[in-house]
Amino acid sequence: MIGNLFWRELILSLIIFPSRTCEREEDVITKPYIVAMTGASGAVYGIRLLRFFEENKIPVEIVISDAAKILMLEELGSAGEIAGGDCLRTHDFLDFTAPIASGSYPTAGMVIIPCSMGTLGAVASGLSQNLIHRAADSTIKEGRKLVLVPRETPLSAIHLENMLKLARLGVKIVPPMPAFYGQQKTVGDLVDFVVGKVLDQLEIPHMLYPRWVGSLQAPKPQ
Ligand SMILES: Cc1cc2nc3c(=O)[nH]c(=O)nc-3n(C[C@H](O)[C@H](O)[C@H](O)COP(=O)(O)O)c2cc1C
Repeated sequence: MIGNLFWRELILSLIIFPSRTCEREEDVITKPYIVAMTGASGAVYGIRLLRFFEENKIPVEIVISDAAKILMLEELGSAGEIAGGDCLRTHDFLDFTAPIASGSYPTAGMVIIPCSMGTLGAVASGLSQNLIHRAADSTIKEGRKLVLVPRETPLSAIHLENMLKLARLGVKIVPPMPAFYGQQKTVGDLVDFVVGKVLDQLEIPHMLYPRWVGSLQAPKPQ
């Protein structure tokens, strides 16, 4: 288990301080995003994304797989009892009666973060064996944004073929591959880079990582 203070503060902040309201002064986002966490390593990415949504009062429908709860316990020391508040609403992993099981329920899109190879394969095959698979299936059929953050290494031909199939359907594959050109120094910086890349795909403005604006170091071409 990672005993790092960073992880603990991140998850505790989400658990202890539920948001007050989803209404922001400048506008009200009515359509929620679906955020699913599965049993791949990297629970911290999902928690960080939820924290961002909560801080920015963006409504979210959350589903956490049974395997993800085990990984959260191992990696973060908490089994994922995420308190909701008005902006975060959780659903049982096997509740097929949840609104997000149906494409008729309007959402702004869905992120599976982290995404296990099992869930990746199920989504690529159109299986709907749990609420995460079903919500992803609905998201694809309705032509909404679906972002996957698949984590495994090395990747087999099966994993790569599943990713290619989904990418060709318009699903955004955002593997948690941090960059270092922004002078990232801490684990938190690296996590924020990955989560920032996910937000980029959803076209949600953020300042989680510094944008590349050209090098101050490299010699200018003559
Ligand atoms: C400690 C641990 C780490 C794991 N890491 C990964 C991983 O990085 N990627 C992955 O695809 N599966 C990983 N698994 C396996 C998944 O948890 C397993 O395939 C599970 O059935 C996925 O179910 P889900 O997709 O419903 O969450 C890990 C399992 C354990 C116990």
